[in-house]
Amino acid sequence: MGFPVTRMRRLRRTETLRGMVREHRLAREDLILPLFVVEGVGIRAPIASMPGVHRHSVDQVVQEAKRVADLGVPAVILFGIPSHKDARGTGADDPDGIVQKACRAIVDSLPSLCVITDVCLCEYTDHGHCGLLDGEEVDNDASLERLARTAVSHARAGASIVAPSDMMDGRVAAIRRELDANGYQDVAILAYAAKYASAFYGPFREAAESTPEFGDRRGYQMDPPNRREALREMRLDLEEGADILMVKPAMAYLDILADARRTFDVPLAAYQVSGEYSMIKAAGERGWLDADRAMEEALISIKRAGADLILTYAAADLAEKL
Ligand code: PBG
Repeated sequence: MGFPVTRMRRLRRTETLRGMVREHRLAREDLILPLFVVEGVGIRAPIASMPGVHRHSVDQVVQEAKRVADLGVPAVILFGIPSHKDARGTGADDPDGIVQKACRAIVDSLPSLCVITDVCLCEYTDHGHCGLLDGEEVDNDASLERLARTAVSHARAGASIVAPSDMMDGRVAAIRRELDANGYQDVAILAYAAKYASAFYGPFREAAESTPEFGDRRGYQMDPPNRREALREMRLDLEEGADILMVKPAMAYLDILADARRTFDVPLAAYQVSGEYSMIKAAGERGWLDADRAMEEALISIKRAGADLILTYAAADLAEKL
């Protein structure tokens, strides 16, 4: 039955009606806030390429975690920026490394907050790649042990979830095995399963000082034109023991997220990455659009496509409004 009997505008007439038939909503419980941690004390340094985002020293990151926990955000994900980098990324699994210290401090003072850690070598290697090098190639199998040990050191520091973002083959299985062997069978794995080699990571690499010295990450991260392959990546990570699957970036990959939602019955996460966040902020600063509304629209699109959890630098701002 069409017009004039059917009138789609009837239910759009007032905010009350729109609210009643709204299909998706953002909730604080969906949000995960990424935090950058640096060595030092009393540091809360703004990141120029990411308006509103800071690098915190351990004491300050505890304050920031408390602030977001008080706003009802259930989880944070930690990224470490170590003062020392070397070829093997030794800082990554150092029991007194920057992430381990931050993790212990947050877990001690906020036991009900879920602390997630990013497991990768790129912030800790002097060459900036996500694994160990063999010549100019990233050596997949040799990197697995380093990643698994890093995950265990995060678990030992109190992380509830570890999130491998390196895109080595077999890393989820290697991490699961090593966690279990060390008594951390209850620590969950959030796998960056479909992670694309994306230009949208630009601002993050400045924030985390993790730009590769040479080459790029296209030899291990996914090729943006590929869609079917993402389902294979996700299926493999599930088989290896992932508890939550992630698609990253989010907005340019909503088709991948929708495919994943139709295909898998595990919780899905999506990462609204630094470039997605910063371009909305930058356009807002120029007065070209309303950044708050654009951010909410971008985030609800991620939810609508099928994500249960959203990693976003806007988590605290959004939670304040919800
Ligand atoms: C790698 C990692 C990256 C991001 C999260 N984990 C960068 C990369 O792969 O180059 C990007 C996050 C963002 O852009 O917000 N450890």
